[in-house]
Amino acid sequence: MTLYGHGRAAILGDPITAERLGWGPRPSGLPAPEIVLEPRSGDPRREPWVAPPGWTPQPECEGLWGRAAGGEHWSFLASPPGVLRYLEHLARPAPACGVVVAIAGLGRVGGVAATHLAATPTRMSGVRELLVYDVDGANLERWFLELSSIAVWQEHELLPRVRLTSPEQLFNECDVFLFVATTGVPPLGTMGDVRLVQLAPNRALLKGFLEQARAANFPGLFLVVSDPVDWLAQAAFVDSNSDAAGHFTGNGLAPERIAGLGLGVMWGRALAAARREGWQAQVAARGAAFGPHSTDVLAFDDLNRPSLQRSEVLTRAAREWNYLVRGLGFLPYVGPGVSSVGLTLPRLLSGAEFPASVFLDGLYFGCPARGPEALLPAARPAAPEVRLAVADLYQRLMHQAAELNMLFRGYLV
Ligand SMILES: NC(=O)c1ccc[n+]([C@@H]2O[C@H](COP(=O)([O-])OP(=O)(O)OC[C@H]3O[C@@H](n4cnc5c(N)ncnc54)[C@H](O)[C@@H]3O)[C@@H](O)[C@H]2O)c1
Repeated sequence: MTLYGHGRAAILGDPITAERLGWGPRPSGLPAPEIVLEPRSGDPRREPWVAPPGWTPQPECEGLWGRAAGGEHWSFLASPPGVLRYLEHLARPAPACGVVVAIAGLGRVGGVAATHLAATPTRMSGVRELLVYDVDGANLERWFLELSSIAVWQEHELLPRVRLTSPEQLFNECDVFLFVATTGVPPLGTMGDVRLVQLAPNRALLKGFLEQARAANFPGLFLVVSDPVDWLAQAAFVDSNSDAAGHFTGNGLAPERIAGLGLGVMWGRALAAARREGWQAQVAARGAAFGPHSTDVLAFDDLNRPSLQRSEVLTRAAREWNYLVRGLGFLPYVGPGVSSVGLTLPRLLSGAEFPASVFLDGLYFGCPARGPEALLPAARPAAPEVRLAVADLYQRLMHQAAELNMLFRGYLV
C-alpha cells in the first residue's frame, strides 16, 4: 500500500484524505515516518478522531480495563472535517525543547498552578514558555510581575519564560491551553454543591475561548480546570462541534485533544487519608480514582484486590476534604493548583500515566490516562467489584449528560 506525506506522520492507503491534505506519495529516499496513520471507520461523536496503535472501540467504560487487540499503526476517522488539522499537526516535527502553555484565569487556582509551573525547570516539566491571561488587567499585571520574578540564585537551569497574552493571540502561540477562569466560586458558607452551579456561567466563558480556538484553527491540547471540570470538558467537545441546531459538525476540537484536570487533587486527598492510616505505599502503587471532580468520585486502595473498608475511607476523603478546608474558613486552592495541574501537566506532556477526565465512548470520565498526542484512558486490569462500581457510575453520568443536553442528537443512552 502507498504511504502519503513527507513529514513526521504519513497516511497509509487513503489517497482521498491524502489529497484533501495535499500530501503526495512519500518519496522512497525519505526515512520511515515516525507515525503511520491508517483510516478507521467509526462514530466521531463517540470515538477519538486520531488514536494511537492498539486502540479499538469498546462500549461504555470497557476501555478502562484492557484493550482488545488493535492494529500496529495509528488510526484516524476521515469523516469529521476537523480531523485534517490534527493530521497536519502530527506531520510537523515535535517541539524539541518544551511546549508553550497558555493559562486563562489567574485567580486562586490558576495563580497557584502558574506558580508551580513557573518554578519547575523546563527539563522536568516540558514547559518552555508560560503565557498568561486574565480578564482583570490589574490582576494580570500583578501575576506577570510575580511569576517573572521567580528565579534560582546562580542556577543556570532553564525555568519557563513568562509572557503576557490575550484571547485573540493565545491560540496562535500555544501548544497547550489551560482554562482556569470562572465568573465566581460559591462563597464560604455555601451548603451543598459548589461545582455544578458554575456550569452555565463558566460554559458561557468557555464558549468565547472555543470561538478563538476555532478562528486560529488550534491543533493543540485544550485542558479544562474550572468547575464543573468534567462537564466543561464535555461542553468543550459538544459546543465546538455543534451547529446552531445542535447537530454534530465535526469542525471543532477533536475529543482526544480535550481533557479535564481535576482528578489529581481528588487522588491527593485520598492519598492523604491513606498516609494517615499507614497504607500510603500500597495505595500509591496499586490504587486509583475514577469518575468526576465531584462528590461522585470513587477511590480504590487496590484495583485488583480492593478492600471495601479502605476504599470507603479513601473515597470519603476524596469527596469531603474540600469541605473541611471550607469549614475552617478558607477556599481550597493550593492542593488543586498543585495536584490537578502543576504535578499533572508534566506527566501528561511526558507520556506518563496521569489522572484526568478523558473521552470514553462519548463521555468525559475521570481515570488513569495517557497522552500526549491523544489523551485517552490508560487501560488497567481491575477486580469485578471495581468494574461494577465504576460501570454504575459511568451509566449514571451518561444519563446526567443526556439530561444536561451534553450529548449529540442521535446518541441514545
Ligand atoms: N480542577 C480542580 O482541581 C479545581 C479545584 C478547585 C477549584 N477549581 C475551580 O477552578 C476555578 C477557578 O477557581 P479560583 O478559586 O481560582 O477562582 P477565582 O475567582 O479566584 O479566579 C477566577 C479568575 O478568573 C478570571 N476570569 C474571569 N473571567 C475571565 C475571562 N473571561 N477570561 C480570563 N479570566 C477570567 C478572574 O478575573 C479571576 O482572576 C473554579 O471554577 C473552581 O471551582 C478546580
